[in-house]
Amino acid sequence: MLHPLSVLVLHGPNLNLLGQREPGIYGSVSLAEINRLLEAEGLKLQAQIFPMQSNHEGILVDAIHEALAQHQGILINAGAYTHTSVALRDAIAAVKLPTVEVHLSNIYRREDFRHHSYIAPVAIGQISGFGVQSYLLGLQALVHHLRNYKL
Ligand code: DQA
Repeated sequence: MLHPLSVLVLHGPNLNLLGQREPGIYGSVSLAEINRLLEAEGLKLQAQIFPMQSNHEGILVDAIHEALAQHQGILINAGAYTHTSVALRDAIAAVKLPTVEVHLSNIYRREDFRHHSYIAPVAIGQISGFGVQSYLLGLQALVHHLRNYKL
């Protein structure tokens, strides 16, 4: 019997519009569907996922702080804050919860301003470019890390 894990899934700005937002780049799957797929993947991995989305940097910072008492790891798509937010990076560094960064699109094939991530240096790793699969691979990688290197 594996120890059940609890994972905070954070979705940053504009990801509430997934499905209708630039589908050529981000695909046609909605955020609700991504969360359902993550929940199903979590069941297989014996990890419960707690998704939340916000367009506000401070709310995401608060959620990271609160995660310390409730979750063992964080899966994050910080959206555009990836490329701008020292505050999110510092929050992840402060709580020291193992964190995996994911992106639907391959940020390195896109505009130069997307090539830098403030999150990457404080994350275990990053998965970028596989659409919805980035989230599922990210959850697998996080749970694998938590089971093999943390507990
Ligand atoms: C994104 C990539 C970011 O550059 C962009 O600002 C997003 C989504 C992705 O999942 O591909 O909002 O994080």
